[in-house]
Amino acid sequence: MYYPEALVEEIRAKNDIVEVVSGYVHLQKRGGNHWGLCPFHNEKTPSFSVSGNKQIFHCFGCGAGGDVYKFLIDYENLSFQEALKLLADRVGVVLPEPEEGGEAREREKRRARLLEVSKEAAKFFYYQLRGPRGEVGYRYLKKRELSDETIHRFGLGYAGKSGAELVSYLREKGFEDELIKEAGLANYSEKHGLMSQFWNRVMFPIQDRNHRVIGFGGRVMGDGEPKYLNSPETPIFDKRRNLYGLNFARASKSGNIILCEGYMDVIAMHQAGFTQTVASLGTAFTPEQAKLLGRYTENVLLAYDSDGAGVKAALRGIGILREAGLTGRVINMRPYKDPDEFMKALGREAFEERIRSAENSFFFEIRILEEQYDMGDPESKTKFHREIARKLCGFSEEVERENYLQAVAEKYHIGIENLRKLVVGYAAQTGLAKPVERPRQSVKKTGPEESGKRVQRLLFTWISDEPRLYDKVKRYISPQDFTDPLYRVVADRLFGDLEQGRYNPAGIVGMFEDEEQRLVAELFNTNLPKLDTLQEKEKAFHDVLLSVKKNSYEYYTARMGTDVDALTQAIKGKKALEELAKTHISLE
Ligand code: UTP
Ligand code: MN
Repeated sequence: MYYPEALVEEIRAKNDIVEVVSGYVHLQKRGGNHWGLCPFHNEKTPSFSVSGNKQIFHCFGCGAGGDVYKFLIDYENLSFQEALKLLADRVGVVLPEPEEGGEAREREKRRARLLEVSKEAAKFFYYQLRGPRGEVGYRYLKKRELSDETIHRFGLGYAGKSGAELVSYLREKGFEDELIKEAGLANYSEKHGLMSQFWNRVMFPIQDRNHRVIGFGGRVMGDGEPKYLNSPETPIFDKRRNLYGLNFARASKSGNIILCEGYMDVIAMHQAGFTQTVASLGTAFTPEQAKLLGRYTENVLLAYDSDGAGVKAALRGIGILREAGLTGRVINMRPYKDPDEFMKALGREAFEERIRSAENSFFFEIRILEEQYDMGDPESKTKFHREIARKLCGFSEEVERENYLQAVAEKYHIGIENLRKLVVGYAAQTGLAKPVERPRQSVKKTGPEESGKRVQRLLFTWISDEPRLYDKVKRYISPQDFTDPLYRVVADRLFGDLEQGRYNPAGIVGMFEDEEQRLVAELFNTNLPKLDTLQEKEKAFHDVLLSVKKNSYEYYTARMGTDVDALTQAIKGKKALEELAKTHISLE
């Protein structure tokens, strides 16, 4: 980090997390916290909480969590520096010129340069298309029925006959060879020096969600190979986490997102008014992309090619959407190959109709499955029914499973009771029906280690909810009692702060990054038992304290043989335990 910690802290303190998050998520106050639907996973009842007191967020469903910076980093896909800048601007703090030299600073500078050179390349292609040498490209796009407005909107361009021109243009603009190469715009060879691999192609700049050019796809003129050439992955071009067209689609109010395979499909769809259309970037659809879509909608319509490869890709896509908690439906493109051809042939209204009649992904899967079986052969037919039963077990919710069971039984003329038996049989055999797994859902482990950590989390939450408790417990408890290394660091800092009369959970959470930050936010957000009377509360708190001490005592006792410190800890622990056991701690 190259901004002074005090500044990071100041900006955090001035930006109330509840206000910031409210700009993105509808929150309602309940108890001490604010609650809303988690933007990081798909859900119907709110388990996403934001604490104004602690200035942190935490989702009880998927485990996401952190401070106000982390929220923006995850939600807006920003770097830490970008989040800092945004929050500083928000409250009118002017950031000093950052100190030179830090590693993060260097990375950030590099990224900025890569974005600049990519933007400049896009400009170059754009003007080529409009110049005399770009005529081939322009005619090609016209032949594909793109309007000038569409061509402009997507910033389409043209790479001419030689790969040398882009390079000399960029050099003239002051970009070093090394940077041009790192941006994936050219390669070096002994024979030709630095040359762009993009030539004789119509160029599609690929933009991130904020309209910044991060890479290119180029379509060859005529029948050359490969048909589409894409930029390689670079520090700014992550193919797994971006989608073509999302910069426009995110602003669409259609209530769904249409996912298709090709750049041309996206463009043709947007031109026809379906501005909610996106495509993956010359690679298969990924879980990261599904998660990204989940921020904008629950409903994804697959508009994949109607050929065998398209069907296979759709089946894969459905699985990924389901894992991400999204609903997928499949649009039938026949008799046309892809959305681009469909649109040209039948137009907007016909496509609207196809959207309305899009097939539920479960029935789509079953229909494709059916093709592999011979319904004339009883044995094969039975196998098909078993396979349906297996698929039904994928629905964790009974109501949903039952609804699908009835619908599929009716559709395929299977006796409903027979099918139910198959389902029950399959479930019994395999220990299903299993809950649908959610990404990052915290798995409830049991066992001594996990239960030890659970009470430690309870204690953290309790003390961070009521910091004044610290004075009452400090003679019994120390950071050493936290047996997980991460917990110990947090305890050290939290107790250190409280010792000096400071209280700043968000500051502690902000010391960590990524996965660790999420875990630390969780520490401060355990579900405390709901208790009515003071007596019950005191009893529960005492139990938690005692459990933490006991766990720590056992932990050190087990290590006494090999570790001298452990012996000391164990002895101290035993005394504290005995004393604690007979002490009443008042919570009044
Ligand atoms: P298609 O071959 O289906 O493209 O590939 P398309 O959009 O129908 O192409 P046109 O209409 O002939 O221009 C779909 C997507 O797969 C990736 C590209 O992202 C393309 O948009 N692709 C395809 C490649 O990356 N490389 C290739 O060689 C072919
Ligand atoms: Mn096509």
